[in-house]
Amino acid sequence: MSICFDKEKGVFLLNTPSSTYVIRLYNEKYLLHGGWFHKLPVWSDVCVMPLADRAFSPVPAELHGKADFSLNCQQCEYPVPMRSDFRSSAYEAICDETLASDLEYQTYRIYAGKKSLEGLPSTYISQDSEADTLEIDLKDPHTGLLVTLFYTVWNSLDVICRHAVFTCGSKSLSLRKVLSASVDFPHSRYRMLQLSGAHARERHAVIRNLVPGVQGVGSRRSASSHQQNPFLALLSQGAGEVDGEVFGFNLVYSGNFVAQVEVDEWGMSRVQMGINPYNFDWKLNKGESFCTPEVVMVRSEKGMGGMSRTFHDLYRKNLCRGKWRDAERPVVINNWEATYFNFDVKKLFALADTAVKEGVELFVLDDGWFGKRNDDRSSLGDWFVDKNKLPHGLEEVSDGIHSRGMKFGLWFEPEMISPDSDLYRAHPDWAFQVEGREPVLGRHQLVLDLGKDEVVEYLLEKISNVLSTAHIDYVKWDFNRSPSDMHLNASHKFYLGLYKLLEKLTTRFPDVLFESCSGGGGRFDPAMLHYMPQTWTSDNTDGLSRISIQLGTSVAYPASAMSCHVSAVPNHQIGRITSLSTRGHVAMAGTFGYELDLNLLSEVELSEIRSQIAWYKNIRGTVQFGDLYRIQSPWNETSAAEASEYAAWEHVSKDKKQAVVSVVWKFPEANPEFVVVPLQGLDPDAMYKFKSLQSETLIDHLKKSVFDMPSSQCSAIPDGTCVSGAELMYAGIRIMGKPQYGGSVHFVLEKCS
Ligand code: GLA
Repeated sequence: MSICFDKEKGVFLLNTPSSTYVIRLYNEKYLLHGGWFHKLPVWSDVCVMPLADRAFSPVPAELHGKADFSLNCQQCEYPVPMRSDFRSSAYEAICDETLASDLEYQTYRIYAGKKSLEGLPSTYISQDSEADTLEIDLKDPHTGLLVTLFYTVWNSLDVICRHAVFTCGSKSLSLRKVLSASVDFPHSRYRMLQLSGAHARERHAVIRNLVPGVQGVGSRRSASSHQQNPFLALLSQGAGEVDGEVFGFNLVYSGNFVAQVEVDEWGMSRVQMGINPYNFDWKLNKGESFCTPEVVMVRSEKGMGGMSRTFHDLYRKNLCRGKWRDAERPVVINNWEATYFNFDVKKLFALADTAVKEGVELFVLDDGWFGKRNDDRSSLGDWFVDKNKLPHGLEEVSDGIHSRGMKFGLWFEPEMISPDSDLYRAHPDWAFQVEGREPVLGRHQLVLDLGKDEVVEYLLEKISNVLSTAHIDYVKWDFNRSPSDMHLNASHKFYLGLYKLLEKLTTRFPDVLFESCSGGGGRFDPAMLHYMPQTWTSDNTDGLSRISIQLGTSVAYPASAMSCHVSAVPNHQIGRITSLSTRGHVAMAGTFGYELDLNLLSEVELSEIRSQIAWYKNIRGTVQFGDLYRIQSPWNETSAAEASEYAAWEHVSKDKKQAVVSVVWKFPEANPEFVVVPLQGLDPDAMYKFKSLQSETLIDHLKKSVFDMPSSQCSAIPDGTCVSGAELMYAGIRIMGKPQYGGSVHFVLEKCS
């Protein structure tokens, strides 16, 4: 059992494979935090915060004059408000018009396995032996409020998952704040890592020093958001990509969140994460309860890289579900940037004909197939086919795509409603609106109130109808505006409704591959991954912009979850021209596809695409399900200001038989410096054979016709060369970058048998 309780000392020890998390009882009543360390064989309960008489730190009445004990000077496990701790509390429950609350220890339960969370997505186990759980009951003697803290400790990963359940006692109360976890560290010598950005610039890694006061990120957009991800990490002094102690926190929730660190006057740091108290005031009457979302907490001694790989392993096996969880994902062609709204059956089939010849496996029909949707001003909610565009319905398109040998996928944006739609004309009250105020529009649309059961039922039936009339293998589920005009608590109710809908739909259609999207990566969070194993990473498909977006995303999320497409140049979002090979190398770092009109390309380009797809099919198992090593990140580990001019990453298969390496220059220069790439994660004693993606780029083609130059793409190391894993890791490959060949280098190493 990875959890034990030492009755004499009043101490709970939670042991992951290489760490120990300590919870302590003081005076048999107060639940304190002991720390989270490298694994300890025993715990004496001596290395704890001292009892101290500190100015302006009140002492509980029963200890007054007896002990220098104030919660204000202690590491608290789930801090209470309005008593002796003036830092940010973990909850606020208003009862009798006061926030004042006490939580006294009652009892505990330890058992093998893990329970699911009522109405909320969470990590899960397939067998009880994977994890153990500790429940601790705390009670407010005055109101009868019962707070149960849940800790699931994973047996093969350095992960602890936490959440809390509030059950109302004799007195009704109003929950204004209910965080999922609070962890106190005894000092603040950490840097904080957050994933921040904007639409089309999501999840750039930002690192800053902790300073006194509150610092953090959050969302009030009723979406986990493009702007901030529900993630934060603390990096110990000296910790970097490869080494050092790192603590990562990620909330399994898609709505408003807060993730913050408060550094107090004595340098202690309090990490907190949970639902954002904004627009939240949840009433509980006797016997009613409220369950918070889950926080996944990872401790790594192998730097950010180790932390990321732990998140990846957990999310791939114990968060994502269904038949696609472990399945290699198909290569996609999506018609969005190829046609936008302007398509008919002929155009779609012409694109499909070319795509299938190049090796594409899944054709996705994006926005514009339903209602009267010729632009983004109408029809959301009218989930029936537009017969003007597709006269013989989706069946004709789906059959045509399947007969060409590809799977067929379809775009939906179910949570939205256009004012110009039959649905809105029939049910204007289904959209979020505040009486007496004109609702605010985003992308000309309103948001459906999924807190209403009839809305959830309507969507379930409408989408089920479409998915059962035509043969549909994949769904892209979009969400293209931040909701507004909500009543109190509506955001959390919305997500409870959405999760209910997704649970039912994914159970009803277990074979469908669902991909979540929100104007790209506006809802790239663990909760959505529980229902949909992949997410459209960003609306920005520029090959170079994608480096920071994808590597930032990889801090918490696995490559199998990141959908990445090659698009046209000049790029439709930023106008940059990047070589086809670089666009391919970057997109191959996730689930791969194309999003451009293949019929506008030359034969040379199509043949390069053919090679890319064939190549990707040989490496996708490693990329999607292997271990990621960020060899050179585009960000600096000690300051956000300086970025490296190139980025390099490596995926290694779990059996260490194959490694896939990419180096991409962000700002390609002529005749650049040599680059040394020390690989990681290989078998030092094995020999590995080089193999590079052989395809003729446009520049190769041009040079060859003029100078008769060979079309080798990257390093000076010829294909077939064998090198030991040790040499590749400890000496590192010296790369003679030739950005004139596209600004990137990409190769595979295969273990010689
Ligand atoms: C969002 C998505 C795009 C595309 C459009 C369609 O912006 O992120 O990929 O599907 O919607 O309207």
